[in-house]
Amino acid sequence: MLRKKILITSALPYANGPLHFGHLAGAYLPGDCYARFMRMMGHDVLYICGSDEHGVAITLSAELAGRSPKEHVDLFHGINLAFFQKMGFSFDHYGRTTWEGHVKTTQSFYEALKAKGHIEAKVENHLYSEQEKKFLADRYVVGTCPKCGFEGARGDECQKCAASYEAVDLKNPRSRLTGSSLVLRPSEHLYLRFDHFKEALFEWIKAKKWKENVVHFAMSYIQDLKMRAITRDSDWGIPVPGYPGKVFYVWFDAPIGYVSITQELAERQGKPDFWKEYWLDPKTELVHFIGKDNIPFHAVFFPAMLMGQDLPYKLPDQIPANEFFLLEGRQFSKSDGWYIDLEDFFSKYTPDQARYAIAANAPETADSEFSWKDFQMRCNTELLGKFGNFVHRVHVFAKQTCGGVIPKLGPLDVDDTRFLESMALLVDQLEIAYSSFHLRKATQLIMELAQLGNVYFDSKKPWQLAKIADQRQKLDTVIHLCMKCIQYLALGSMPVIPGTSQKIWQKLGFSSDLAKLSWREVRAQELPENQKLPEPEIVFRKIEDEEIQNQIKKLEKTMTEKEISAPVATAIQYEPLKNLISFEDFEKLDLRVVEVLQAERVPKSKKLLKLLVDLGSEKRTIVSGIALSYEPEKLIGKKVLIVANLQPATIMGIESRGMVLAAHQESSLELPMLQTLSAGSVVS
Ligand code: MF3
Ligand code: ZN
Repeated sequence: MLRKKILITSALPYANGPLHFGHLAGAYLPGDCYARFMRMMGHDVLYICGSDEHGVAITLSAELAGRSPKEHVDLFHGINLAFFQKMGFSFDHYGRTTWEGHVKTTQSFYEALKAKGHIEAKVENHLYSEQEKKFLADRYVVGTCPKCGFEGARGDECQKCAASYEAVDLKNPRSRLTGSSLVLRPSEHLYLRFDHFKEALFEWIKAKKWKENVVHFAMSYIQDLKMRAITRDSDWGIPVPGYPGKVFYVWFDAPIGYVSITQELAERQGKPDFWKEYWLDPKTELVHFIGKDNIPFHAVFFPAMLMGQDLPYKLPDQIPANEFFLLEGRQFSKSDGWYIDLEDFFSKYTPDQARYAIAANAPETADSEFSWKDFQMRCNTELLGKFGNFVHRVHVFAKQTCGGVIPKLGPLDVDDTRFLESMALLVDQLEIAYSSFHLRKATQLIMELAQLGNVYFDSKKPWQLAKIADQRQKLDTVIHLCMKCIQYLALGSMPVIPGTSQKIWQKLGFSSDLAKLSWREVRAQELPENQKLPEPEIVFRKIEDEEIQNQIKKLEKTMTEKEISAPVATAIQYEPLKNLISFEDFEKLDLRVVEVLQAERVPKSKKLLKLLVDLGSEKRTIVSGIALSYEPEKLIGKKVLIVANLQPATIMGIESRGMVLAAHQESSLELPMLQTLSAGSVVS
């Protein structure tokens, strides 16, 4: 097997507050599972993460908390590092961007870009607060998003549509701290000519087989790639050489943190050049785990910065970006009381229960959520009911009837062979799932494996075999194969629930550290016959309904206390884009402008309207599901768009010949309408 060098990063979280499960699901747990799997596959893995400690996200929240930025990041760096440790993360290094070596590396990135002519000084208008007598950067500003119109948008990126822009692009900008309106004033800043990299980025991304949302998002950014300011007026950050009073924009220095954190690790190991073996080797595979809000920075801006260096930096090979992970349908928010108290959580539940429930719901293709009911079901039905019970019943049985050792494997019958084959197939599939970032799939496969074991155990009825004297050999074989299943369960679940997997590995009588063994060797290993088994022990406990009801009550209490009426601005659920079609496919559609002549409700239907429309050349009846959004009278005389060559369909007894085009977002609906052109016009 080819041993690859794999450099894995998870987005550096801001050290401005405690992390929660919502963060873990997107950029962290998937990264840790991938790193754990790839290490066991024998690859040379380096997994890097750390605290992002600069920028206004920090200074603003420090100010609001009444701390200095330094006190603030020290506090949360410690808290977040402890949380990752508690959750069993396997970073090779968790650094921070306030490490002194990060200054030199960031400045050298800048110097290289400057030497190549990619940096430009420019006097431009910036947002200035006359009341506070200073320029306000990014998150000190709120306003209306230029892309989606969301009114509470942050100054650098929209938390609703994930657009990234400059604060001056906001409509109606105001000071976040005082609410005062802002004026434009000229000030000199340094700009990075991202537009110089347009072609190179385009060619590079074109060849990538990334997730569709990542490619799509990146390509749309590249199309409109402009120079961007990389400096800010602040004293918290990496100083810009030759520009007193200015620091680099946090999104300039943070991704460079991946490099400098690797450098810090190299220094600590006494091999200062060790980082180059990863970052500068074209054979390295670089994988960035991120949340979707970080796509532009990892797929476009940071790669451009890397392209503009003298050193031959690796560009990312994979950017598995995940969607958002909510708590019971709303964004986690400690300040709104919408959160899980982690101290309380871990006094009752284990990190593996959380890891499993998060992985099983990983937001891979759409936003997903942690819900207490689901957590209880995952823990009771899956982890305990399928996985834990299987392991336990086999052990107890072996203890009672096989002398507390792994019994001998005898001749196999058809069921035994089929059981072995089915298990091997599931392990094959698990390997594929882990290699291709499909964590949800992996958790399903683990449960299928456990269920396979349960079904085999039940069908072989070892308790009956035990009563028949000449069935000893058969009984031993059945239990041996069940232990084989436990061996595969330990292996297959290691990336997701490492603590439990190590426990059940030891319950087979092994003393080695499973995470350090080779996946293939463990997979191929024969179970040593007569190996002594430790005492059986329950690995998961049942979660009672009452506990879950209490947790839900706590959240509901928050709800009523805050009297939250409308749900907060959670991310819009975008439909995934459909597959490409050819122009010929498109041409088959006959899209027309029609004028609505008559409109009435369809009796007994809340949603349907019956329309009589004029196509110019003929009149037709169309039934359309728009009654919740449009009063029939208001539509008369309006010119809307239809698909004119759709096969007729009978809807509630009415023949409908065509379909009205409407835009949808969640439960809202809007019809595109024409003003000038007449009915019958063709849309193409
Ligand atoms: N701190 C950023 C966030 O939480 C992520 C930084 S990722 C890095 O959104 F690449 F800049 F490091
Ligand atoms: Zn927006």
